[in-house]
Amino acid sequence: MLQRIADLRAEIEALTAADAAEVEALRIKYLSKKGLVSALMNDFRSVPAEEKRAVGQAINELKNFATDRINGLRDCLCCGAAEACGLDLTRTAAPVRLGTRHPLSLVREEIIAIFRRLGFNIAEGPEIEDDWHVFSSLNFADDHPARDMQDTFFISRMPDVLLRTHTSSVQSRVMEHTEPPIRIICPGRVYRNEAISARAHCFFHQVEALYVDKNVTFADLLQTLQYFAAEMFGGDTKIRLRPSYFPFTEPSAEMDISCNICGGKGCSFCKGTGWVEILGCGMVDPNVLEACGIDSKTYTGFALGMGVERIANLKYRVNDLRLFSENDVRFLDEFAGTH
Ligand code: DAH
Repeated sequence: MLQRIADLRAEIEALTAADAAEVEALRIKYLSKKGLVSALMNDFRSVPAEEKRAVGQAINELKNFATDRINGLRDCLCCGAAEACGLDLTRTAAPVRLGTRHPLSLVREEIIAIFRRLGFNIAEGPEIEDDWHVFSSLNFADDHPARDMQDTFFISRMPDVLLRTHTSSVQSRVMEHTEPPIRIICPGRVYRNEAISARAHCFFHQVEALYVDKNVTFADLLQTLQYFAAEMFGGDTKIRLRPSYFPFTEPSAEMDISCNICGGKGCSFCKGTGWVEILGCGMVDPNVLEACGIDSKTYTGFALGMGVERIANLKYRVNDLRLFSENDVRFLDEFAGTH
């Protein structure tokens, strides 16, 4: 019985039809009540009980196969290639659904492009770091709170292996083995031991910029910041610097831009101040240059660092950080066509 089924299957597989009448004739021959496939069903009664299961399954499969094959022949008549396949070449193609770029990638690429136009090159460093590159070389005092377990994910202690808490670590890695002039932009992921909420996450992204050469001054930093703000947020954007403190820069500042939502008039986003903070910056502390083997009497430099999520917040008004890592396609779809 199984052999008969296999033979019939081979026969059906080889079928061809030149027109609709031939297809109909085949349907009657194989699939009608008195057709060859149905005949098998009649013989099924006489199959021994222990074979019934396998034979029943084979008959069902053959029936499905014959139905598909004969329908396929009918479809094929439309494209005039009846014997070729079961394809209808006249059907319109199903649209291909394109993926979208992640908003953080969009923003990172935009930041990089702006700095590239100023002659900065990309530098990258490891996410798993040592204490020297993340803290000590950057002039962090031994008792600085950022070194605390509460802020930093340690992989091991003595020697300290940790997840970098900022991309400033790439500064010291590059300075260690590069003669100035150095003009680099360092994008990357960073980690901090924070409870996850709308405003904080245990990982996020930063872009760091560093320029070290003879005679680099605060005026160079200011020009760079102004250029960046205008390119990123539009020519009308104003910037302001507030004095701040970072161990690796002296003097240090934080930069605000005029709120790009209310245009500086004051709204709920900027808490009525008209300004929003976007980055930290300053002149590289001579201690950092020396720690990385660069003569601080000959060279000076500026550095700046910003959060990619923060910029994406401002550009796309996304105010819950978790959305960036949840991979919800409804959120990601909103960036379709943005580049
Ligand atoms: N590393 C700082 C942070 O994670 C950001 C930063 C501030 C980077 C000032 C700099 C800088 O290069 O000059 O908060």
